Amino acid sequence: MDPTSIAKLITKEADVTPTVLAAMADTDDPRLKEIMTSMVTHLHQFLLETRPTEAEFEYALRWIVEIGQFTNEFHNEVVLAADVVGASTLIDLINNDGMQGETMSALLGPFYRGDAPACANGECIARSETPGPSLFFSGKVVGADGAPIAGAALDVWQASPVGLYENQDETQEDCNLRGKFTSGADGRFHFQSVKPAGYPVPTGGPVGVLLRAQKRTPMRPAHIHFIVSAPGHKTLITQIFSDSPEALATDVVFGAKQQIVGDFRMHTQPHPDYPGATLPFYTCEYDFRLVEGTPVFPVPPISGKKS
Ligand SMILES: [Fe+2]
Repeated sequence: MDPTSIAKLITKEADVTPTVLAAMADTDDPRLKEIMTSMVTHLHQFLLETRPTEAEFEYALRWIVEIGQFTNEFHNEVVLAADVVGASTLIDLINNDGMQGETMSALLGPFYRGDAPACANGECIARSETPGPSLFFSGKVVGADGAPIAGAALDVWQASPVGLYENQDETQEDCNLRGKFTSGADGRFHFQSVKPAGYPVPTGGPVGVLLRAQKRTPMRPAHIHFIVSAPGHKTLITQIFSDSPEALATDVVFGAKQQIVGDFRMHTQPHPDYPGATLPFYTCEYDFRLVEGTPVFPVPPISGKKS
């Protein structure tokens, strides 16, 4: 036997990391090599630091298996797991720091379907009986120079104030509170909905087990999701928030940011711009600013509604 190969056999803790890195050393793809080298190095360091028992390791592997088993076309527990440990928000900020003048971004979350129906400006996205005061949301899409962007696409989705997205709730119409709008020649868009309310993320799976063990709230502050896109511009994925400072500060997925808190105004008197609106109703005006770039769209974490 070649004595040099015997020398490479692992005999102690300190041998493992260099041996594994050596085994991956011939990776052709430089980015894969960089990521896996760093991941293995940090993972081993984490294990050496925390020194899990075999039972703890088995539990962790089982938890990872379960987030996969809980995921299907109607529910994405893997995305939710990434969200509650802050990974999604960190990835978001690494890639979208808002420093080029664009509207602040926020994580996509696990409830984007990608197949919302196209709507004309002014349409209401409440497609079935939905509680909560009416909301009239409007704004314009502009470029970095402030010039309006005509034909920008705005994909909108929000939870019902009952605390569930339509894909979680068989009593809601398919695609309730989802719609795709297009900005007009002046960059403006507007639609009707209901004022969003805070909601708990799903806690029936392994993510819920973790949140309860950590004594964390499962609540998200009230928000509306947007994906705003236009040819020649970087796609903006964000959320516009409407909630108390306390609720914003305890967002279970760490998505709330001050720059994307909307000015939701309550109206207790009739307003000529909103004839017939049931009182009280709310309005919110928010302009989205895009920077030049290549439009890239996320893969929807879910693709349908459970019937
Ligand atoms: Fe959400």
